[in-house]
Amino acid sequence: MAYHLCVTAMVLAAYLTAAKACPSSCTCDPVWKAVDCSHRKFLSIPDGIPADTTMLHLEENSFQQVNSSQFSNYTKLQTLYLYNNNISTIEAGAFAELEHLSTLRLFTNHLSTLENGMFQGLTNLSLLDLSRNRILTIPDDVFSSLQNLEVLHLWDNQIIFVSLNAFRGLDNLHHLTLDGNNLTAVPTQSFQTVPKLETLQILNLPVTSLPAYAFKSLPHLKALHIGDWPRLEFLSPEAFDGLDLTYLSLYRCNLQSLPFEGIRRQWGLKQLLLYDNPIANIRPNQFYNMSQLEELYLNDMLLDVLDSDIFKDLTSLIKLDMSSNYFKSIPPTLFRKLRRLEYLDLSFNQLSYLPQQAFQTLHSLRTVRLGENPLQCDCDLKWLKVWEGKFTAKEIVATCSRPLKLHGLELKNLNVSNFICELPYITGYSKDVWAKEGEDVMLECKATGFPQPRISWVTPDGLHLDPDSKYDGKLKVSNEIVLYIQNVTDADEGEYMCLANNKGGSDKVKITLTVGEYPFKPSVLPQVADMQPRVEDQTKVMMSRTQQKRKKANPALVAGVIIAAAVLIGLVFVLVWIVRKAPIDRGLALRGSTSEEMRMLPSRDQTNENVALSFIETIA
Ligand SMILES: *[C@@H]1O[C@H](CO)[C@@H](O)[C@H](O)[C@H]1NC(C)=O
Ligand SMILES: *[C@@H]1O[C@H](CO)[C@@H](O)[C@H](O)[C@H]1NC(C)=O
Ligand SMILES: *[C@@H]1O[C@H](CO)[C@@H](O)[C@H](O)[C@H]1NC(C)=O
Ligand SMILES: *[C@@H]1O[C@H](CO)[C@@H](O)[C@H](O)[C@H]1NC(C)=O
Ligand SMILES: *[C@@H]1O[C@H](CO)[C@@H](O)[C@H](O)[C@H]1NC(C)=O
Ligand SMILES: *[C@@H]1O[C@H](CO)[C@@H](O)[C@H](O)[C@H]1NC(C)=O
Ligand SMILES: *[C@@H]1O[C@H](CO)[C@@H](O)[C@H](O)[C@H]1NC(C)=O
Ligand SMILES: *[C@@H]1O[C@H](CO)[C@@H](O)[C@H](O)[C@H]1NC(C)=O
Repeated sequence: MAYHLCVTAMVLAAYLTAAKACPSSCTCDPVWKAVDCSHRKFLSIPDGIPADTTMLHLEENSFQQVNSSQFSNYTKLQTLYLYNNNISTIEAGAFAELEHLSTLRLFTNHLSTLENGMFQGLTNLSLLDLSRNRILTIPDDVFSSLQNLEVLHLWDNQIIFVSLNAFRGLDNLHHLTLDGNNLTAVPTQSFQTVPKLETLQILNLPVTSLPAYAFKSLPHLKALHIGDWPRLEFLSPEAFDGLDLTYLSLYRCNLQSLPFEGIRRQWGLKQLLLYDNPIANIRPNQFYNMSQLEELYLNDMLLDVLDSDIFKDLTSLIKLDMSSNYFKSIPPTLFRKLRRLEYLDLSFNQLSYLPQQAFQTLHSLRTVRLGENPLQCDCDLKWLKVWEGKFTAKEIVATCSRPLKLHGLELKNLNVSNFICELPYITGYSKDVWAKEGEDVMLECKATGFPQPRISWVTPDGLHLDPDSKYDGKLKVSNEIVLYIQNVTDADEGEYMCLANNKGGSDKVKITLTVGEYPFKPSVLPQVADMQPRVEDQTKVMMSRTQQKRKKANPALVAGVIIAAAVLIGLVFVLVWIVRKAPIDRGLALRGSTSEEMRMLPSRDQTNENVALSFIETIA
């Protein structure tokens, strides 16, 4: 107790003494020997600062110059802040007596020239921040007395020239930043005097060429930050030779291909940032033997396909960013070797599906980003939801794009039962067709289902045609749903089969083409085959679907239901017919109809079919 009182009294006494010594408009902390005179309008050091001050805040004042003897009375200073002033001149020897100073912050001032002797005597300085000044050149030996300097910030100046011996004397410099200057080349020779450099940051420079051995005199360099070099035209394959880096960035450097040759000997790399370069493809084997790599950034490029073995050596990879590219699909074995991968970003791509196999081996995964992809949430993607459910610690960010009723919904808010496929069902197709020799004929066939079924055709000769088939001058599939037969001859007569397929299954119908004289008055050429709704078949399918549901219900009801269903067939017929009449009405169906219109039709049909179905179920 007495001790505490005593201490309190001493602190109080110290405060009172200090209060006397403290300049007005400043605050003084006698315990820490800190004086804060920041954010005033001082043009020079105010009187009355205690001589034993170790930390002095003079930032945000109106200093224009630092006189040679200005700080000579404050020999105990360890930290001096002079940033955000208007300093354009520092006289030689200005800090000469500050042999204990370890931090000097001079950023955001108006310094344009550095002169010999400016930093004279600062033998214990470890951090010097000269960023955001107007420095144009770094002459020889300006930092020569700073033998303990570890960190030197020179970013955001206008440096156009770094002299050969500019950094001489900086025997312990570890970290140098030269970002945002006007250097058009890397000052390779000047780095010879800073052999202990570990981090070099040279972002945002108008460099046009990076020649061989650009960093050869920096054997201890571990981190090389290059980025925002929009004018880079040449990157030598030997640019990084002599280095053994753990961090390398080359983002926004206008690279058109992976600088594979340049990085091929950096086997110790742990982080490689290549994002935002116009790279459209990565050839196989480009990440050969990079078994130490932990983070790889390939985002914001023009990639659309990757070789399935491209990542096979990256067995230590923890973070992989492939976002904002043009990937439409992912090879199922792409991530096979990435056993340690924890973070995977595939957002902002064109992915509609993801192969389950690709994710099976990713046991360490914690976060998967799949946002902003046109994900098709059907039976094929159900595994993703199941997989999400298995690992509660996982964060999977994904949003469905299709089907429409799930559009915009996040994976985490969906249920496994939402991921369904609907069987294809051909809802309408051309009536059996007559044509005269020499006429052109179009056969049409439409289907519903989810995902939207793909229509293909089989000719009487067994030829298989789909929208990707090459036009042979006679047959072609156009508008996704139309088979176009040009200049029919007897040989074209026969049964054409329309197939509708999706991953849920398939459906098919046959259309007979008869070549010869019309049994009625011919219409205007080219002949358009009439479409017919598939009424009888449709009721059959509806029956069977109804029956399937029924199987689970009380069997005693089945007979009754069938009778009820039979009664309803007429009703359904009318309903479906009315609904289909508009879109499939002859003439309307093909005349001037655009592919969008065509594509829209089935979904409308589908909805109506569902309505009809649920109507049956309700009544049954
Ligand atoms: C710095 O100088 C400029 C003119 O060079 C002046 O407008 C500005 O007010 C000065 N800033 C301070 C903090 O004195
Ligand atoms: C010292 O600095 C003050 C203001 O910064 C200036 O007015 C004065 O002329 C300087 N004295 C010398 C000797 O340079
Ligand atoms: C340094 O301290 C001495 C004695 O306290 C004083 O006479 C002198 O003016 C001071 N010099 C500066 C530059 O403040
Ligand atoms: C030099 O600065 C360091 C802090 O960077 C400090 O620990 C050390 O005591 C200082 N040495 C001298 C001689 O002032
Ligand atoms: C440095 O580059 C900036 C931006 O391009 C320009 O405004 C400035 O004039 C340049 N300075 C020198 C000294 O070239
Ligand atoms: C592969 O990388 C290791 C370092 O991880 C290195 O020692 C070895 O020489 C490299 N081997 C080949 C064949 O490139
Ligand atoms: C998922 O299931 C829950 C409970 O069964 C239900 O409340 C929710 O609406 C379902 N979500 C969707 C998108 O169907
Ligand atoms: C139609 O086919 C016949 C028989 O192959 C041929 O002689 C005729 O030139 C063809 N007409 C057109 C317009 O291609």
